[in-house]
Amino acid sequence: MRSVLLTGGAGFIGSNLVRLLLRERVENVVVLDNLTSGYRRNLDGLPVRVVEGDVRNRDAVEEAIRGCDTVFHLAASVGNARSIANPIEDALVNVLGTLTVLEAARDHGVKKLVYSSSAGIFGELKQLPIDEGHPVEPDTPYGCSKLAGEKLCLSYAKLYPISCVCLRYFNVYGPMQRYDAYGNVIPIFAHLLLHGRPLTVFGDGEQTRDFVNVHDVARANFLAARASDVSGAFNIGSATRVSINELIRLMEHASGVRPEVRYASPREGDVRDSLADISAARAKLNFEPNTRLSTGLTEYMDWFRAELELNDALTQRNGS
Ligand SMILES: NC(=O)c1ccc[n+]([C@@H]2O[C@H](COP(=O)([O-])OP(=O)(O)OC[C@H]3O[C@@H](n4cnc5c(N)ncnc54)[C@H](O)[C@@H]3O)[C@@H](O)[C@H]2O)c1
Repeated sequence: MRSVLLTGGAGFIGSNLVRLLLRERVENVVVLDNLTSGYRRNLDGLPVRVVEGDVRNRDAVEEAIRGCDTVFHLAASVGNARSIANPIEDALVNVLGTLTVLEAARDHGVKKLVYSSSAGIFGELKQLPIDEGHPVEPDTPYGCSKLAGEKLCLSYAKLYPISCVCLRYFNVYGPMQRYDAYGNVIPIFAHLLLHGRPLTVFGDGEQTRDFVNVHDVARANFLAARASDVSGAFNIGSATRVSINELIRLMEHASGVRPEVRYASPREGDVRDSLADISAARAKLNFEPNTRLSTGLTEYMDWFRAELELNDALTQRNGS
């Protein structure tokens, strides 16, 4: 892995992966991003070539992919709510965008493509822990388009000399994940906590989630790219679950702020429990999540606080 392209590299997970690749001394790192939900400042000061463009635009993808042996395809229209509001855009980016990247990868002799998939492909959960054999019955356009992207990648791995690994992330959290990020609970709670506002919990708070730290997700991508001759789909989670009540206790500890918590009726469609079975990723990719939630939340709350201070400073400067 000497020369790599990250689509969506200016986003939350992508910009963390860029940092890992640079630490691992990958020689040439290229980012293709249209900056719809990513930020150029996520890459400030890093020695990467940034191509500002859309994954649906073949010319932009060609410009970025030339000379690359490995592609991390993260660019996507992300989130269930966004896909329900705009299903056509969701499919254009997530399905046709993925196909455009695959076609360019094939033409340019890329050896390995790692695709960012989602546990959203499973739909209503039928068994715990969730292994790769769990039925895939997505219940949003986003889940459907991420699944279509997976299937396209795996069909290219069968048809052409390219290995494709699809990583199905559970709830990812960590630095660079902003409050406006498609309704994830940790950034929402962080935002409310640091603004001294009450947290609303839907249901009794004993529902559980598998939160996986972005550094572990970045590591999973790196390992997947290095695993020779491996193609397939793998769950990427922490293999532990915590309740929302416990999460609030940990965030209180990490931030030093005691929140007021309000309980509301459970939301339609929310699953009760979630837990990834990651045995396949352990066996085939040598993946081991090693960030404890308490440690990851401390880092995240510190990052979030610094981000708020920076935004305040920028607002004051621009206002004066
Ligand atoms: N964050 C999570 O919890 C989570 C969970 C499951 C799967 N994923 C997947 O991980 C990947 C990265 O997600 P993220 O959380 O970092 O989100 P993000 O929104 O921060 O990153 C997505 C990036 O893709 C870019 N992008 C969007 N449309 C594009 C287009 N048409 N052309 C070029 N670039 C485009 C955005 O500007 C952004 O930088 C996505 O594929 C997402 O489906 C994320």
